This record gives sequence, C-alpha cells and structure tokens, in this order.
Amino acid sequence: MIEIKNLTKSFGNLLVWEDVNFTIEDGETTAVIGRSGCGKSVLLKHLNALLYPDAGEVLIDGENVFDLSYTALRKVRQRFGILFQGGALFDSISTFENVAFPLRYFTEQTEEEIEHNVHEALSMVNLENAAEKSTSELSGGMRKRVGLARAIILQPDYLLYDEPTSGLDPKTSDEINELIVTMGDNLDITSVVITHDMHSVLEVSDKVAFLDDQKLSWFGNTKDMKHSENQNLLDFIKASEYQIN
Ligand SMILES: Nc1ncnc2c1ncn2[C@@H]1O[C@H](COP(=O)(O)OP(=O)(O)O)[C@@H](O)[C@H]1O
Ligand SMILES: [Mg+2]
Repeated sequence: MIEIKNLTKSFGNLLVWEDVNFTIEDGETTAVIGRSGCGKSVLLKHLNALLYPDAGEVLIDGENVFDLSYTALRKVRQRFGILFQGGALFDSISTFENVAFPLRYFTEQTEEEIEHNVHEALSMVNLENAAEKSTSELSGGMRKRVGLARAIILQPDYLLYDEPTSGLDPKTSDEINELIVTMGDNLDITSVVITHDMHSVLEVSDKVAFLDDQKLSWFGNTKDMKHSENQNLLDFIKASEYQIN
C-alpha cells in the first residue's frame, strides 16, 4: 500500500499542487489524469523519491520514502518498475541487452539466469522474436513493449506507467492497455498509470486520481467517475473523448 499524505510540491515560484492525499491499494490499478502540465509526472516521481516534496509524506507499507537512507531507498526503488514516457531505451544495444540491463546492474545473476529471465519477460510482452534486434529498428508500440519488459524484469511490486499509449495508434494502444491489465493480473502487481486517454482509463483502472487547479480535484472508483459532481472532471472526460491519440 502506498499512502500519499498532505503532499505539496513547487519549483521556485511555481506551485505544482498542494495537499494531495490518496491511497494506492495493493493489487489495484490507479489512473492519474489531468491536463498537460498539471503535475502528473511530478507526482509519479515522488512515489520512489526521484523528487522530494516541499511538505508531506509518501508511506510505502507505513515507511516514509523521504526519510530513508541511501541504502534503504535503493532497496525501495528496486520494488518499482517504471515505463518512462519516452521509453528511455538504449538504441545502440539490442532489445535483449536493454531488458537485461537492470539484471546486470542490480543483481548477481549468471548469464544463464539472465538469458532465461529476459526471454521470459520478452515473451510476456509478445516480443520473443525481437531479442537480437536493435531497438531503433522497432515500431513505437514495440518500443513501449521493450520498455515494459525491462520494467518488469526485477519482478517489481509496483509498476508505474507514464503515458504508455501516447503517440500510438488506437489498435496499438489497445494492445498496450491489454498488456497493462495482464501484467496486473498475472504478476500480482500494483500499477499507477498516467494517461490522458480516457479509453485507457476505463480499460485498465480501478481508481482515478484527477489533478486539476493545483490540487487533487477528485479521487474515487473509476466506475463512479462519470457520475461525479465535479464539473471540471466531467469537462475533462468530455474533452478527452474527442481527442485523437
Ligand atoms: N525538474 C523540474 N524543474 C522545474 N519545473 C518542473 C520540473 N519538472 C516539472 N516541472 C514543471 O512542473 C509542472 C508539472 O509538470 P509535469 O508533472 O511534467 O506535468 P504533466 O502533468 O504533463 O506530466 C510543469 O509546469 C512543468 O514545467
Ligand atoms: Mg507528464
């Protein structure tokens, strides 16, 4: 469980959001939504202390990540898999090596174990045949899937997705949405998905956190979202439904 308590963040004079409170329950998928620049990526980066707040706490199983020592934080960060917005792949090395990277960096696994684990991760994202390809040869959807294979390779408890379907056509977006659901079910993973794609929200999430007007404007069950009385949320949903991703 991740509890976000009274979290406030600014950069210089720019207040991103203040007094954000919500809880990410184990096994659930939470979507973080809101217009561009409202602070979704900044919020995600607080969950494993890639950024520090002005005030407030992020408690992971009761422990505030901002109080941890360097060593303890390194351990906590290993519990997170992150699919970055741009993919953050290394284009000069193969798909296999991209996915193997966290194993080489964080573990003492033998070449044989690495081989086995990388192939298993690649098959989970339906990329078993792309292992030897350079990632620069791959399509946008395939690159996202390589990023996803790399994000799950250390068997994380938490999987963070930053705009996993942005820039993809609707069919490829659906494939990624399906994978997000599969990952949650098969790997017993708790997921947080940043998206402005309403279709994605409805497909993958149990809960929704809506950032607006420098605060958490609405938080609740995805199925209750369309019946909320929050006019900004309703407007946001309506606008997103017209948007082409
Ligand atoms: N490292 C940073 N330094 C200064 N300002 C930042 C930094 N990261 C993000 N911001 C600003 O914080 C606001 C929220 O950014 P971000 O979380 O990336 O928005 P989004 O909801 O689109 O993901 C934006 O105004 C952005 O310019
Ligand atoms: Mg962002």
